[in-house]
Formats: sequence, structure tokens, C-alpha cells
Amino acid sequence: MRKLETKYWIVDNSVENLRDCPQIQEAAMYLKENELIAFPTETVYGLGANALHAEAVTKIFEAKGRPSDNPLIVHIANTGMLSQLVSSMPQYVAKLIESFWPGPLTVVLPKTDHVPENVSGGLATVAVRMPDHPVALALMEAAGLPLAAPSANLSGKPSPTTAQHVRADLHGRIAGILDGGSTGIGVESTVIDCTADIPVILRPGGITRNELEEAVGKVLVDPALQESGQAPKSPGMKYKHYAPDAPFVLVAGNSEYLQQLVAHEKKSGKKVGILTTEENQHVYKADVVLACGRRDDLSTVMQRLYATLRTFNEYDVDIIFSEVFPQEGIGEALMNRLLKAANGQVIREI
Ligand code: TXA
Ligand code: MG
Repeated sequence: MRKLETKYWIVDNSVENLRDCPQIQEAAMYLKENELIAFPTETVYGLGANALHAEAVTKIFEAKGRPSDNPLIVHIANTGMLSQLVSSMPQYVAKLIESFWPGPLTVVLPKTDHVPENVSGGLATVAVRMPDHPVALALMEAAGLPLAAPSANLSGKPSPTTAQHVRADLHGRIAGILDGGSTGIGVESTVIDCTADIPVILRPGGITRNELEEAVGKVLVDPALQESGQAPKSPGMKYKHYAPDAPFVLVAGNSEYLQQLVAHEKKSGKKVGILTTEENQHVYKADVVLACGRRDDLSTVMQRLYATLRTFNEYDVDIIFSEVFPQEGIGEALMNRLLKAANGQVIREI
């Protein structure tokens, strides 16, 4: 791995003509030279490379330590960038684009030969989205390039929602980081396979199944998301993800039950963490109790989730117990990420 001197630029998101500002121009220059730049999107920070250049894309896998069969999302600044990436699309895709772009929706479509094999992990399809963030859009416009960009974390770590998270993971491994503050949504985009007549959700995210169905009618969900043992169609969904350093366990039960589990671990001398919400923060006794947003507004829990998982690492706890959330609406995406962080481990009160 080359040791790089990572540049760090702070960008004021509200500036007009952002694409002309020196920080964006300099970052765009690195991208044109096939180097890697981390940038904010509305979901999480992305680690971008020229999506049309295989060697640039190779650097992403090296910097993150990412398995090479896990394909990347290509980000675009305008729909004009689509034709060089995708070879065809069903009619309903136009409706999805009109309803949700720019925004946290990624569509999977048949790819053209311009898309390098390492972007698509050898698949015949490519995943594309237009992010809803002024810095991301300005950067792509300034570079004149679509950007292949996974989340800008070391593989397996929680996705970054601040530039400081990116720096902690990737300093010295990439050319630069554009700091546009905390990301708004906090979990990754919804990925939807649009290669068949009826679209299929491969990864739940910022846009819910209900919202999608309102726009285009029936939408299916990849069975692998609901049952274990099924091979997921989105290769990334099979890897352990988003995990804090300590074992992370979900608890489906009331607060007394969770507190009993904590007491049991404390007896054997363990340092115990609890992930809860503001409503329940004062109910628990443990070494580290972190409130992750408010239960009465799950969007705040999503927004704080990855930062909270990273904070547990700073306290060096031995085990973390987490509350669970209703799997409805955006709760689907939230529970998907919590279950991945827990590697599927749920203790149920009987
Ligand atoms: O919100 C997001 O989507 C963020 C920001 C940076 O845009 N990006 C992100 O990228 O989450 P990443 O690489 O962490 O996740 C990409 C997901 C993986 O689950 C991958 O398997 C799936 O998209 N994917 C990519 N190309 C695919 C394809 N051709 N077919 C099926 N799934 C694909
Ligand atoms: Mg990721």
C-alpha cells in the first residue's frame, strides 16, 4: 500500500457555484489523475474514483481492504451521464428517477462495455445513483466524471457519517477528503434491481418500499433479506458489516430484561455498553449507555447509528447490548444495519 499525504478540505455547502471553489477544483483534479477522493453524500461519505478507469477503481479496493467480488455504486451528477453506463432500462425506471433523484435510491441496470469489470464485480449489471448533496454533485461536475464510490470506511467498519470518521479509517491511504459536515440520512441508499419487469429491493435504505410502490406499483424484496441461508443478489449483503469492535447483541425484550443481561455480564467482570434512545437513556445502569436518537422519530436513530457504533470503540467496552426497533417503514433499513452489525445475533425474551 502506498503511503499518501491525505489532503483535507473544509467546504461550505451553502456557497453558490460550489463547483468553481478552489477546494472542489483541487479535489476534482486528483480524480482526473485517477486518485481517490472521499466526499459527503446525503446518506454516508463515499470514497470516489473515476468510474470509467479500471486502475483508478482498483485503488478503492486496496484502500478499503474490500473483497473484489463486491461491486461498487456509480454516482452521477446528471442524467446525461447515464447513457455511457447503462445499455437499457425498463420504462418504470424513468418514473423512479423522476420521483427519487437526486436522492438515496440506487438502480441496478444492464451495463455498457464502458463500465470496467471491477466496478461491477464481474456482473453484467451496474448500480447507479444521483446523490442529493451539493458537494458530491459539484465535485462530479467539476471533474466531468461519474464516480465509483463505496462508503468511505475500512471494509467491515461502520460507514462514515462525518469527515472525521473517514480520516480515522483512511488517512494516508487516499489523496484527499472533502469535509461537508455530518451526513443527513445516516444509512446507505436503497438498492433496487431494475433488470426485470418488477423491481426487487436488494438493500433497504433511505427510501422505503411503500414510497417506491407509490411511484411504480408492485415492488418485490430479495428473499435473502428475510430468510437466512439464501444467497443475496446484492453481493455486499453477504459480508459482515458496520460492526463495532466488541461483540454487539440485539435484545428483543423490555428494559428490565436487557438490564438483567447486563447484570449477568457484569458479574464476570465485563465492561458493558448499551445502545438505547433518548427516551430510555436514564432507565439503564451500565458502564457506557449511549442514546442514539429518539425512538419516536426513527430517522434520528438512523442518522446517529454509525457514529454511535464508532463511539463504543472509544470506550473500549467488552460487549454491547442494543434495543431493537419496529421493522416498518425506515425501521426496515435501521434493523437491517443493526442485524448486520450484530452478525444476526438476537436474544429474545421468552
Ligand atoms: O448510500 C450509498 O449507497 C453509499 C453512498 C456513498 O452513495 N454507498 C454505498 O456503497 O453504500 P457500498 O459499496 O458500501 O454498497 C454498495 C452496495 C453493495 O451491497 C453492493 O453489493 C451493491 O450495492 N451493488 C453494487 N453493484 C451491484 C450490482 N451490479 N448488482 C447488485 N448489487 C450491487
Ligand atoms: Mg459500505
